Amino acid sequence: MANRFHMWKSEKENKSAKGNTREEKTAKFTEDALQLLEILGGENQKIKNFLINSYKSLPVSLETKEEFYNYFITHSVFSAATAANPASSVITELLYEGKEKLNLPSPIDQYFLRSKAGRSIKARLNAVEEELPKIIEEYRRKGKVLIGNLGSGPGRDVINVFSAYYQNTPGIEAIHVDKDKLALERGKRMAKIKQVSHLIKFVEENFLKYKPEEKFDIVLLIGMLCPLDFHLCVMILKKIKRLFKKGGCLLASNVSKKMLE
Ligand SMILES: C[S@@+](CC[C@H](N)C(=O)[O-])C[C@H]1O[C@@H](n2cnc3c(N)ncnc32)[C@H](O)[C@@H]1O
Repeated sequence: MANRFHMWKSEKENKSAKGNTREEKTAKFTEDALQLLEILGGENQKIKNFLINSYKSLPVSLETKEEFYNYFITHSVFSAATAANPASSVITELLYEGKEKLNLPSPIDQYFLRSKAGRSIKARLNAVEEELPKIIEEYRRKGKVLIGNLGSGPGRDVINVFSAYYQNTPGIEAIHVDKDKLALERGKRMAKIKQVSHLIKFVEENFLKYKPEEKFDIVLLIGMLCPLDFHLCVMILKKIKRLFKKGGCLLASNVSKKMLE
């Protein structure tokens, strides 16, 4: 997909920003973002202006902020889910399903699915599903393989890989650890549907405090580190070090400031 950026400048807003450097600020929006702004502008100019002003770090009133919040949670499934719990796997799961499978008519939701961030999260799942079997094969040569999926959400990545390659292979198992009971219940359903429940245990626990009976050959930490700052990432990695077998391997999604943005 083309990676083109457009320059956009609201003269009206530049005039209203009183004599400071904000006047010089020019926002860059992708084509998808511009399309969304156009639709929102047609429905509610205030919401459009709020988005632009926030993006440009211009001041906005509390009333407008509240109106915007209310508009988004009532007009978008993604926004409502994010407002309820920003770190929930409900959001990543929606992105994994993708626009092909989901029937989300809201232009805001359509934007989330089409956006670079949305597509990169789906691409991340594909990358994990591509890499994990290769790593499992390396460890399989030495014997049994135990995978720890930390902050697993439902654990669609491992479920898909097990279902595709290891449904009837003895000695390859996983433990999905998440503090979200509903995500684990969803994972149990997915595993059952894909006929791999006999290979996966689901543990409701904070993985920072988790004490497994057995250490892991492969640890997955996907969608966990991305929104955190460097020091917190280091703290988490230090805490989970004890969960690895000697020579164990970590498969983690990378940390990018752009993702948080
Ligand atoms: C963004 S989701 C990612 C889920 C999954 N790993 C994936 O790649 O799709 C983050 C998950 O981590 C879980 N989580 C965050 N901190 C946790 C902790 N300390 N212990 C257990 N689960 C945690 C959340 O409940 C959520 O399900």
